[in-house]
Amino acid sequence: MDRWVGKIVVVTGASAGIGLATTRALIKHGMIVVGLSRRKQKMLDEMTDLANARGKFHALECDVSKRDSIAEAFQWIKENLGTVQVLINNAGYIALGTFTDTTPETWQGVIDVNLMGSIHCATTAVKMMQEAKLEGHIININSIEGHRIYLCNGNPFNIYGVTKHGITAFTETLQRELMGQNIRVTSLSPGLVNTELLNEYGDGATLCEVPGLEPKDISDSIIYVLGTPQRVQVTELIIRPLGERAL
Ligand SMILES: NC(=O)c1ccc[n+]([C@@H]2O[C@H](COP(=O)([O-])OP(=O)(O)OC[C@H]3O[C@@H](n4cnc5c(N)ncnc54)[C@H](OP(=O)(O)O)[C@@H]3O)[C@@H](O)[C@H]2O)c1
Repeated sequence: MDRWVGKIVVVTGASAGIGLATTRALIKHGMIVVGLSRRKQKMLDEMTDLANARGKFHALECDVSKRDSIAEAFQWIKENLGTVQVLINNAGYIALGTFTDTTPETWQGVIDVNLMGSIHCATTAVKMMQEAKLEGHIININSIEGHRIYLCNGNPFNIYGVTKHGITAFTETLQRELMGQNIRVTSLSPGLVNTELLNEYGDGATLCEVPGLEPKDISDSIIYVLGTPQRVQVTELIIRPLGERAL
């Protein structure tokens, strides 16, 4: 990870769960981390104990479902910090329910954050990397739902799996588009992780009746993927808790 010390990384959804654990790990590894989420104060509060760490942290309020909000955040970074070289596209949420008992507004909301938000952030970051002719890395936090549809103990996720399959396709498309350029693209697909993601519906592990991973298990794998030499492109990494059964 030494070559990334002092370089700029954006983490979307840095206020909780996987994004929070990843942000903390990247600060400890000496990167300049910019966290984007709607809860700016929570991001700042979660990072107070790292004030003297090797890296630096900046929190920006950003709603990734809104193009203007993303553009504003990246513009601030460009003017005040420099070129983004790493993007962790992590912000996302889930809406439980079948397609027939959820509304088009519900589906659109999940698409706008999980899929369109990731695409807008990635394309903005890639353009910055290309302009500056610097090496870069986009890591898309996908899901096992991006490869096969699972029912969480009978609970359907309606549009969620559609957005995550979209992330799989987007990742592969971007890998091809950027072939020959010095920008790596990775899809990282966890099974169940114990975070706030399913909180509004109850405890995730109980709801899905499967063992869960911890956010640190995913942030450790992000550090691994990022820390490999630039000639290595981890295209897809699936991480499941031991004992998770096909639901
Ligand atoms: N937990 C799992 O079992 C699991 C499994 C596979 C994949 N994943 C994926 O991992 C990623 C992170 O999930 P998590 O489990 O860590 O969830 P989490 O604990 O609920 O955290 C979600 C993060 O996304 C942010 N976010 C949500 N909507 C946003 C918006 N409109 N604009 C900006 N930020 C937004 C939240 O920040 P604010 O609320 O402050 O905006 C929060 O920081 C997601 O993409 C999820 O699909 C999770």
